[in-house]
Amino acid sequence: MFVLGLQGSPRIKGNTSVLLSSFLTEAERLGAHTQNLDVARMNITPCQECGTCEKKGFCPIDDDMQQVYPLLRQADIIVMATPIFFYGPTAQMKALIDRSQALWSLRYVFRLMDPGRKWRQGFLLSVGATKGKNLFEGTTLMAKYFFDAVGASFDGSLTYRQIERPGEIAKHPTALKDAKEKAGSLVTPFLNRKKILFVCTENACRSQMASAFTRYHAGDEIEVESAGSAPAEEINPLMEEVMREKSIDMAFRKPKSIEEAAHSGTPELIISMGCEEACLLFPGVANEDWSVPDPAGKPIELMRRIREEIEERVKRLIGQISN
Ligand SMILES: Cc1cc2nc3c(=O)[nH]c(=O)nc-3n(C[C@H](O)[C@H](O)[C@H](O)COP(=O)(O)O)c2cc1C
Repeated sequence: MFVLGLQGSPRIKGNTSVLLSSFLTEAERLGAHTQNLDVARMNITPCQECGTCEKKGFCPIDDDMQQVYPLLRQADIIVMATPIFFYGPTAQMKALIDRSQALWSLRYVFRLMDPGRKWRQGFLLSVGATKGKNLFEGTTLMAKYFFDAVGASFDGSLTYRQIERPGEIAKHPTALKDAKEKAGSLVTPFLNRKKILFVCTENACRSQMASAFTRYHAGDEIEVESAGSAPAEEINPLMEEVMREKSIDMAFRKPKSIEEAAHSGTPELIISMGCEEACLLFPGVANEDWSVPDPAGKPIELMRRIREEIEERVKRLIGQISN
């Protein structure tokens, strides 16, 4: 399970950073994999309103945001953390938010569904110096809209007033404990999911489709990974096309090796489609073989048939796991 932290303060070891660290450290201690992006030190150009994302479904600006898109898609939980600057988030965080218009477009212009969307959760952490009654209103509204654009439900916030000087948050009577407890309550249900690894040769068609369908239909019950014994450079464009026919968005997916997939932990079940290597890497782990032929390089009709067969098999598997 993966928690992505977005740290928006430019101040080194500032209050936001300390608060977010408390959340992420606890998530990691409980068994989550976490990544803390120091957004204020990344090279993220503000949106240029060129309209490419609404026409073509991607952002053409070649900067650090290109690394953020796939992480937003992989995340089970996204924590947006920012100090209040003029009743909103920092400019650096706002640039990231605006660039998420590319994901908004995939959903609302192209009508595609990211397989993790139904289950992903978003949480806001924020601090401000004054007592203002409406201090967090602008940022909360923005966070809600941001989470919707990137495919996460808004799961609430922890906000603290009268926090100004660096390190002051650590003296707050409950803030760090609150963040820790919130991490526990958000992360725990995700950690209890059954872990399944799908493997095929290139991780470009079959195992990608199987993992997307599994996350789409049962991402709350199953933590799913996919990999290949000889990963391709890119996922198969014909596979992306047939998944789009089902309104499923495969954007930002990259084939990975079995060794890379192993970083996210030992699976409880391996399902292979023409590849036995994963079982050798995880001796003793239960495994199944699905004899699904490789559709790579074949006509689109075969790709469609394989897509249907894989979805059927995935649904049967989910049925067995849920009972
Ligand atoms: C440019 C700027 C604008 C700010 N605007 C506000 C504001 O509108 N309201 C407020 O309560 N605090 C405001 N602050 C104070 C910060 O929110 C506060 O010092 C916070 O603790 C900084 O968190 P950090 O250490 O994580 O950066 C502002 C600070 C700066 C530098």
